Amino acid sequence: MPRLIGIEEAEQLSTKEVHELYRAYVSKSQVSLMTTFGFGRDLVEHAEGAWVYMRDGSRVLDMSGGVGVLNHGHNHPRIMAARARFAAERRLEVHKAFFSPYLAALSHNVAELLPGDLRISYFPNSGAEANEGAIKMAYKYHGGKRHTILRADISFHGKTLGAGSLTGSAENHFRFPGLPHAAVYHYGDVASIRERIEATRRPDGGCDVYALMLEPYSASSLRCWTAEQLYEIRRMCTDEDIVLIFDEVYTGWGKTGSLFYFMRHDGLLPDILTYSKSLGGGKASISGYTARERLFRRAYDRLADVILHSTTYYGFGEETATAIEAVNVVVEDDFPGRARRIEEILGSGLERIRKQHPDVVDRVAGVGSLYGVFLNRGPKLLDLAGKLMPGFTNDPRFGTKLITLSVIAHLYREHRIMTYYSPNAENPLMVAPTLMAEPADLERFLTALDATLEVGLARLLTAFVREKAGAAW
Ligand SMILES: Cc1ncc(COP(=O)(O)O)c(C=O)c1O
Repeated sequence: MPRLIGIEEAEQLSTKEVHELYRAYVSKSQVSLMTTFGFGRDLVEHAEGAWVYMRDGSRVLDMSGGVGVLNHGHNHPRIMAARARFAAERRLEVHKAFFSPYLAALSHNVAELLPGDLRISYFPNSGAEANEGAIKMAYKYHGGKRHTILRADISFHGKTLGAGSLTGSAENHFRFPGLPHAAVYHYGDVASIRERIEATRRPDGGCDVYALMLEPYSASSLRCWTAEQLYEIRRMCTDEDIVLIFDEVYTGWGKTGSLFYFMRHDGLLPDILTYSKSLGGGKASISGYTARERLFRRAYDRLADVILHSTTYYGFGEETATAIEAVNVVVEDDFPGRARRIEEILGSGLERIRKQHPDVVDRVAGVGSLYGVFLNRGPKLLDLAGKLMPGFTNDPRFGTKLITLSVIAHLYREHRIMTYYSPNAENPLMVAPTLMAEPADLERFLTALDATLEVGLARLLTAFVREKAGAAW
């Protein structure tokens, strides 16, 4: 008999044993990376709302919001009840032959909530899969006659081969093979999109671009397009019959103060919208994309093409039932309103901290419950980072990352608060709490950040690197 670990035994493993198993069977580097922040040295007992309860009896305020997954917070009671009910009633999970009432209802509800004729949905399991499905639909819509896809220089669409080839992020630094004919425009620059369309124009004057991928609000860099720019891009895509795909995988389901970020602009419509993360209420791995009716019908709606695009776990029973409940909670509990109230406290609080620490904080950017704090990356600090970590002196990006990591580690160790950083060129400290966070939680965080920055970045950085010294990076 092979010696297998059961669930209960897994729950009894010590931190040391978990690290050993990770080193042997998952990834040594992951152990090294996660212990850097301090998080990796503790194990979680359970989690609820905005709080994570540790095995040692302490609790940690989660200001990471599960990187977009936890708009509902950890283990929302209605989400838990929906899943328990589904299990207790032994509902059908795999429905390849029978129709799923859950799938029918979720598609209907999404169409009810989205503007215009964004009506036909498909529900795979990850953001990358949603984007890949949207891209395939755009390509098929043009019958394979157009070859170019446009993506932004600053973008995040996932890490599969296709979506990864459209992702312009420091996280994605190795060149894997990807989608052919992907042309790059500058985020926030409409002229560069027009230039790309013209550069790929065919000799007969026809447009070669089948799809334009765009994040109306970029969660990784905390940038956005203006309303005028988005309307202009919409017009351009309509004129050239380019399928406009909005990726709102992170920003969806109320996170930024409207149901989806683009919906703050009246009458603005993508041809396909992709989303994921909080669609699963923090419990189910489910994503989706919704297309305008005409687009879907022309691309796929004929018998011969019915299973041209499908995935095994598409619309899986409990995941879909969970998503129905998650979306109902978003609407009934007014998640956009919650995000706007968080913005009032967090936005003004972070701005106050920036003014109080002008040498430490360069700038603050964000919307709703999605904020980034851009820490000072002046030459003095980068020089110190280089001295503390010789070998990295020529990499300012690494220096910036170290600075942000030192703040994250201090917040965790001294204040029991969890944050994260966005791994792009500027490595901002990300503050993106669940929409269940209470005003007192936000104030607690702001007080802790203020006290942390008061220590000074040079001291934080030195302490962080010294403590880390000797460990493998
Ligand atoms: C904007 C955006 N698009 C796509 C993705 C990819 O989603 P997934 O990691 O589920 O593949 C992410 C993930 O963070 C994202 O933020």
